[in-house]
Formats: sequence, C-alpha cells, structure tokens
Amino acid sequence: MNIGEDAGTAFGTGGIRTPLIGRTAPDPKAYGLPDAGELTALLADWCPDYALQTSPQAYGLPGAEEAAAPAGRRHPDYALQRPLGSEVPDGIGEVYAPRVVPAETSAPPAQAPGAGVPPAVPVPVAAGRPPSIARIGTLPVDAIRADFPILEEKVNGRRLVWLDNAATTQKPLAVIARLEHFYRHENSNVHRGAHTLAERATDAYEAAREKIAAFIGAPSSDAVVFVRGTTEGINLVAQGYVKQYLRPGDEIILTLLEHHANIVPWQLLAQETGAVLRVAPVDADGQINLPAYAELFTPRTRFVSASHVSNALGTVAPVEEMIALAHSHGTRICIDGAQSVSHMPVDMRALDADFFVFSGHKIYGPTGIGVVYGKPELLEAARPYQGGGNMIADVTFAETVYREAPAKFEAGTGNIADAAGLGAAVDYVSSVGMRHIAAYEQDLLDYGTRALSAVPGLRLIGTAARKASVLSFVLEGHDIEETGRRLSAAGIAVRAGHHCAQPILRHFGLEGTVRSSLAFYNTHEEIDLLVDALSNIVRGRTHSSKLSLWPWSIS
Ligand code: ALA
Repeated sequence: MNIGEDAGTAFGTGGIRTPLIGRTAPDPKAYGLPDAGELTALLADWCPDYALQTSPQAYGLPGAEEAAAPAGRRHPDYALQRPLGSEVPDGIGEVYAPRVVPAETSAPPAQAPGAGVPPAVPVPVAAGRPPSIARIGTLPVDAIRADFPILEEKVNGRRLVWLDNAATTQKPLAVIARLEHFYRHENSNVHRGAHTLAERATDAYEAAREKIAAFIGAPSSDAVVFVRGTTEGINLVAQGYVKQYLRPGDEIILTLLEHHANIVPWQLLAQETGAVLRVAPVDADGQINLPAYAELFTPRTRFVSASHVSNALGTVAPVEEMIALAHSHGTRICIDGAQSVSHMPVDMRALDADFFVFSGHKIYGPTGIGVVYGKPELLEAARPYQGGGNMIADVTFAETVYREAPAKFEAGTGNIADAAGLGAAVDYVSSVGMRHIAAYEQDLLDYGTRALSAVPGLRLIGTAARKASVLSFVLEGHDIEETGRRLSAAGIAVRAGHHCAQPILRHFGLEGTVRSSLAFYNTHEEIDLLVDALSNIVRGRTHSSKLSLWPWSIS
C-alpha cells in the first residue's frame, strides 16, 4: 500500500494528498522536511507496523467512502467492531510528535506576489522537523479523527479546529449510531416485563449503567446514579446526603479552584441550614495549598467537595491526599470529575472518594446525561432529593416506600437513549485505552505550553506542575472576547470568558481568559494553527491564508 492512499494518513507521495485539509500541499523538500521515501523509512523505523496501521479498515474503521455514508447505514454497535480489546499493553503505544524548539524560528513561507501584507510573525519551529505521526496507543491520531465526523466541518471557510473540549467534547460515530439505533429499534420507557421494546430499553439503560460502573471501577452498578450532568449530581449530593447532617455553624470545605457548579449548590445549602463554607487557597501557579487545606478541618467540618481538574486552569488537584486528609478527620468528600474523567483513568476503588460526579457530554457522550457515583452505604443513607414515578416501591397518601439506590434518585422518566449513548462513549474510550489517551494528551499539553509561551505578550494562567487539557491565557493588549472572535474567524473554537469559575480567575486579578482545551483527537498541527493565528493577532493582522507553519496546515 502506498502511504497516502487511504483516509487514515496525514500526508503522502508526490502531489501530496492531505486528508486533514483536503488540498494538495507543496513539495516538502522546500520546507526542509523529508520527502515521501525518507518519510516511509522514518516511519518504518519509528513504527515497524506502520504500513498495517494506515488502513482504517484494519481497525474496523470506515474507509473514505464508508466514512461519508450516513450513520444509519452503519452497524449500530460500531465501537464493537474495533478489534482492539480494551487496553493495549504498556510500551506499545509511544507518541511521536514534533517538538517546539523555542530558541529557533523559521522564516515564514514566501508570500504570494503582491499580497501587500506585513510579514508574518515568525513562529517557533524546529528546523526540518518531521511532520507528526502521533499515535494513541497503537492508533494513529488520524484514525481517531476519522471517527468524529464534525472534525471535518468547515467553519468560516476553514477546517474546524475544536479546542473547546472543556466546555463539551465532540461525539464519535459509535455514539451517534448508538442513539440512532435506540430510537430506531429500542425506544420505550423502562418498565421491564411490559413488552418487548420495554425489555430492550431497560436492557440498554442498565447495560449502560454496568459499562459506566466498570469504567470508573465502581464495585457495583447500583453505585451509579444517572442524572442530567455534574451540576445536578452535586445538587443531589448536597441536598440528598449532606443536608440532613448540617446544623447552624457546621462547615463545608471547598477549594478556590471550583466551578460555579461546585460553589452555588453549597451556598444554597449553607443559606438553608446556617452552615458555613470554608475555602482552601491556591498558590500563584493555581495549585491547591495542601497544608492550608489541612488546617481548614475543625470539629465542625461536615463535608468536603473539590474538583479533580480545574476547568479554568487545568490544575490537577492532589485528590488522593485531599481524600485521605478528609477521611483522617472522619469527613466524607465528593470529587467533581467533570474535567478529569475524559483525560485520565479514574478508579473508585483506588481513589476512595465517597462521591464522584461527572457529565456525559465531557467524555464524548451526549448532553443531558451524567453520573453520581456514591459508596453504597452513603447512597442508602441519602434521601431522594426529588420525588415521582419510577423511584417508588409503594405509595399511599399516608407515605411512600422508596426503591433502593440507584432507582431512589431517578424519579420520572430517565434519559434512556443518552444513557445508552454514554455507554457507547465509555466503550469507545476504553477501546482506545485511557492510559494511552492520558499519555497522548499530556504530550500535546506540554507541546502547547511551550508553543503558546513563545507568543509575544501571551501569559498562561495556571502553571501547575500537574495539569490536564487546559491552556488558559491572556494576550497583552487584546480583549479576550475579541481574541476569541478572531480565532473563530480562523476556524479555531476556544472559550473566552470566565468559564463559570470567577473566584479562581479573580485570584489572578482577571475577569476572564481565553481558554483552549484539548482532547485526544486534537493534533500538534492544530496547536501550531492556534499559535499561528495568535501570532497574527499580535501583529494586528487579519487571518492570512498565506501564513502557515506546515505546508499542509489549514490556513
Ligand atoms: N463547565 C463548562 C466549561 O468549563 C461549561 O466550559
């Protein structure tokens, strides 16, 4: 097979085909890059089975024609066709990626004659570096990208660069197909025994619960409660579990890193009960001050709620230590996993969190579905925080007997289809391997940190030693919303604003940042495009179709 003949490759031979952007790129030699022959040798050296990897069909993935076919013509259990099993053994999946060398700069590619624009700001690049052949585990990242049809979308005339993953993630075909399959073949309310479709819907809903329990290492699927998302999950924990134990003057510990969803429910509860919130501080890099956190515990401490990863900064909180400290004081703790669960393996048995909450849409699943994990004895102790059908064993006007958890917390008709969709999403990421996803994203984050740091006037906000996914920044002299709009004009989606995390941004003296946030389908080339577009903003240029770091870059 010639490299470049199929949809799974990022470059190819003569008249190079560039599936990433669908246009012909110039001769790589002009850019000091290896030609196709050299590249093949390099690839063989890096990855002896590269040739086998270039066929998407080798992975049970669609070829180019198949990829263009409507999802309805696909097998509904698309993810199951991927012959990968769950995890790939350690050591198989190294990541190959270009490295930024900040000290060096490349001359910009020649401008079109008569373009009449100022020269582009040189952007950091290692001279003659090879194009990236990034792999996640054994999968080339392009094979992953082929699973996410929206990544082909044109935005403002350019290929979409989705760097707003902390807000929501894009959905693989496996999830899209699962939703379609549900509505074509299984749609019913869940009341097993009533009829065949009810059986199918119930099976789909409960199978998803089991997949999620296995994915997060919960001891039983009964420990997994379906909710709309993280926000509803934290409200459930606050109102259903914690409220009953609070007396005026009791204390709840939060941290300065929290999203509003992990602040406001506790404020409401404090207002109702007379409890007090105590907030663990962070340092100048945006890291939790653990000794100060430890000092917050008093005999009045009743509960702790803390995020695993900050949505605004990307800081990975030392939750293992925070959980152990809380437990050493006999205090229960809830971990907000909204920004961690898609970026690193999480295991409830190892973590020993009392509650863990997350949203499906942040882990490649649908919106409107999320999870509260709770230790079984705590779910048993918790009161339902809303009442209705489905959650009862018996109702009279005198009293109601509730079903056991998780049904006790799932009043009304649940989000059945989206639960099945979330099950497909966790199947999908499991088939890639969370350890491989974490390793690839860490490499991407390190690359992005170095590349953005080299943009004149750019200040990264949040420089913790342990971070995941998020590159938040301000650009001196440039309004954040305007920066967001100009990046959007270049096809690059980021979030500009306060990210529902005003307290932590005010700690840095800011009301907002521009936030790029990464997922495992992002590439080093996309980070180059971000740097390229920011460099243009710094220079006061409108987005140029001529400036690009890579000959085949989206420009
Ligand atoms: N929590 C989401 C974000 O950080 C909405 O953007």
